[in-house]
Amino acid sequence: MTIADNRETTYSTSRKGGLFHDILHDMRKSLRGDVHTVVEIRQELDRLLRKNAKLVDVLKLHHDYMKESLVICLDRDAKDEEKQQHLDRLLQLFEMHAKAEEQTLYKVLIASSEKEPRVEGNLAQDEHELIYQVMDDLRDMHFMSLWTEDVEAKSMMLCELIANHFKKEEAEVFPLATEKINSGQLNDMTSDYISLCDNYLGMSEIRAKGIFL
Ligand SMILES: [Fe+2]
Repeated sequence: MTIADNRETTYSTSRKGGLFHDILHDMRKSLRGDVHTVVEIRQELDRLLRKNAKLVDVLKLHHDYMKESLVICLDRDAKDEEKQQHLDRLLQLFEMHAKAEEQTLYKVLIASSEKEPRVEGNLAQDEHELIYQVMDDLRDMHFMSLWTEDVEAKSMMLCELIANHFKKEEAEVFPLATEKINSGQLNDMTSDYISLCDNYLGMSEIRAKGIFL
């Protein structure tokens, strides 16, 4: 699979001058080369831990992996099967990333003694909840078996919500976290975030294989 960086995304939501065009343009600019498989992303977690990667860098890296699927799901020229596969990959990665982020970064922001981090942490958590609801709707629509226009519209809405959430986090929440949380605590959170990601991916791998413990 390769990223369609030579494709022009032509959905009405992304037409030049349209509200979403700039976000998509930015996402495409940051993506290069092959799409990373979920297995590769899981294997890389260990390397990130060993090289003492910074929390914000790991979070942004995971955003980039999800953007690989966002640009495909929003591409009018992509085939339905391609969109199904990428929506499935996106759901898996978002669940991993968001749950791990909530139990580390958001938890600390929400527990802050200052108002700004508390409000930003709660706002980000609320955005996750909204995204989970749309993800559940898509699962209930059995998008892997049937790709209807309703599914496509809901998938696009999900992608827009996620893209906007990432944009806000990268521009506001991560800089705020770096400013307000001391570096020792941030380092501790990195290893917690990585091991939580590993657990979530492990669980979704078990679910995908149909093994119920
Ligand atoms: Fe998030």
